Amino acid sequence: MTLQIKTLAQYKEAYQNSVENPEAFWAEQAETFTWKKQWDKTLEWDFKTPDIKWFKGGKLNITENCLDRHLETRGDQTAILWEPNNPANDVISYTYKELHAEVCRAANALKSLGIKKGDRVCFYMPMVTELAIGVLACARIGAIHSVVFAGFSASALADRIKDATCNIVICSDYNSRGAKNIPVKKVVDDALAMGCDSVKTVLAHKNTGGEIAWNKDLDVWWHEALYDQPTHCEAEEMDSEDMLFILYTSGSTGKPKGVVHTCGGYMVYTCFSFRNVFQYQDGDVYWCTADIGWITGHSYIVYGPLLAGATTMMFEGIPTYPDAGRFWEVCDKHKVNQFYTAPTAIRALMAKGDEWVEKYDLSTLKVIGSVGEPINEEAWNWYNEKVGKGNAPIVDTWWQTETGGILITPLPGITDTKPCYASYPMPGVQLVLMDADGNEVEGNGVEGLLCVKFPWPSIIRTTYGDHERCRQVYFSSFENMYFTGDGARRDGDGRYRIIGRVDDVINVSGHRMGTAEVENAINEHPNVVESAVVGFPHEIKGQGIYAYVIPNQSVADEQAFIKEIRKVVAKVIGPIAKPDEVQVVPGLPKTRSGKIMRRILRKVASGDVSNLGDVSTLLNPEIVEAIKEGAK
Ligand code: PRX
Repeated sequence: MTLQIKTLAQYKEAYQNSVENPEAFWAEQAETFTWKKQWDKTLEWDFKTPDIKWFKGGKLNITENCLDRHLETRGDQTAILWEPNNPANDVISYTYKELHAEVCRAANALKSLGIKKGDRVCFYMPMVTELAIGVLACARIGAIHSVVFAGFSASALADRIKDATCNIVICSDYNSRGAKNIPVKKVVDDALAMGCDSVKTVLAHKNTGGEIAWNKDLDVWWHEALYDQPTHCEAEEMDSEDMLFILYTSGSTGKPKGVVHTCGGYMVYTCFSFRNVFQYQDGDVYWCTADIGWITGHSYIVYGPLLAGATTMMFEGIPTYPDAGRFWEVCDKHKVNQFYTAPTAIRALMAKGDEWVEKYDLSTLKVIGSVGEPINEEAWNWYNEKVGKGNAPIVDTWWQTETGGILITPLPGITDTKPCYASYPMPGVQLVLMDADGNEVEGNGVEGLLCVKFPWPSIIRTTYGDHERCRQVYFSSFENMYFTGDGARRDGDGRYRIIGRVDDVINVSGHRMGTAEVENAINEHPNVVESAVVGFPHEIKGQGIYAYVIPNQSVADEQAFIKEIRKVVAKVIGPIAKPDEVQVVPGLPKTRSGKIMRRILRKVASGDVSNLGDVSTLLNPEIVEAIKEGAK
């Protein structure tokens, strides 16, 4: 099994080895996996192009490492434990043996539908076990999965299907979420009506059994496709650098881009980071509350835990259904040992009062994690005291869709923890802070732009169909560096604190959103001339979305107009991107070269109109007064 660091001395030694001789360090980790053919060269890299190859020439199948290699030692152990939305419904569990058989059946079903190695398979599914099984089935046959979070709109789904020219979409009929029964296949049907010509099949899983429209030329039931499939499926031989999956994420410009991860490096790093960050021990029950539609679900619900032979829980529901005690009730019910969630959920539950968490026995918790956005001190303290009872260290894990796995985190019980600090780099992660002029900010007690100067195994390889964009966005800001887009502070002891994005990306409830993306959606409203979107501090969500909108014709009913703006964003992107505040403005503050002065808009949105700095150089300084007056 991959190294599990146990002491501070071991962490220091591993870190030092990983920097002095990264190839040897990672080769040693990689050797603990099953390879169909040993790699020829551990690492080849060039950040200029970028061209990064880990375990070059190695052949493997990640599912043999997630499933087959555990059959002998832990075949009867629970692999996936599924907790339903409605607590009165049955828990579902798959042992490693059962999961292996089911993944093989699904893989054979995909093959019989004509899906082969290299084809792109889109998933638009709620948190049902079939999603994990389907993803692994793709990996089994070498098809590339592209999971789209089931909260995105038909139009956002269509964009992603088209960008990756997917051959098939796998979905459910409906999604049970809290008290709601949300149509899922209907969204897929609507997306396909937007011209996704590459799609030849829609594989529909019957989840709630509600009425759906059926197109006999395209639609196939999941249960029928799997019905008489054999429970054995040879694992396709994949090159270490063959694509494993595409996952779309937002950037500061343009449409979301498809981040590509490949088989070998992703496998080695997700397993290594999972074992060390969560200190998983045999017999533990691990629960990550994320959705598989995001990277956290890919790396730390499916791949990392299964690679490490863990029992990983999937939760169908939401933290507040049927009440605000649900997370803690589930921890108590399944005797959860490692719990991993987002600050937005912690803040929302904290606001509901301590009685919800005090009702349940949380004594089995050994490690509690946080991911996706900065965790504020109040939430950190509450999580530490009320959930961890001061006994379960908080791992505030910093990473990104592009990094594939956790790069900065405390190691529980090994390194210290400090509120708001993601703390220390993982072995193999060489962090650098840079200033805007491209100079490294050295020493401790400093701030800068967070970069990484050496590849780790699960670093982004490309953006699907547009390699130049990958170079431009991540590798062109600083020479020979991967630029994260985040600002960070390094304290006197070398711990890192993430300050937040320095680009036009906002983080709403841990969901990444490009301001340009939301603006484009708003601009689809026929009565909008121009809009500008910024983030503002939000008590529960971390950041909220504030939209300034210039209407074409005067607006008679402002409330109705604002409602329409929110609706158009929900339609184009999805409900998660709906602006919290919409301010109708006569114009936007612009520089003489026509650039929107976002600095001013951010200040006004955050409620701070006192000192907006020098506005005299603006093309239209008078607009600032109007914006201040109309501020929400
Ligand atoms: O700004 C950072 C923030 O989330 C961004 C990455 O978002 P995404 O690709 O959606 O991945 C989220 C889950 C890994 C980062 O650029 N972020 C993530 N984790 C933290 C964080 N900010 C502060 N602290 C964290 N622990």
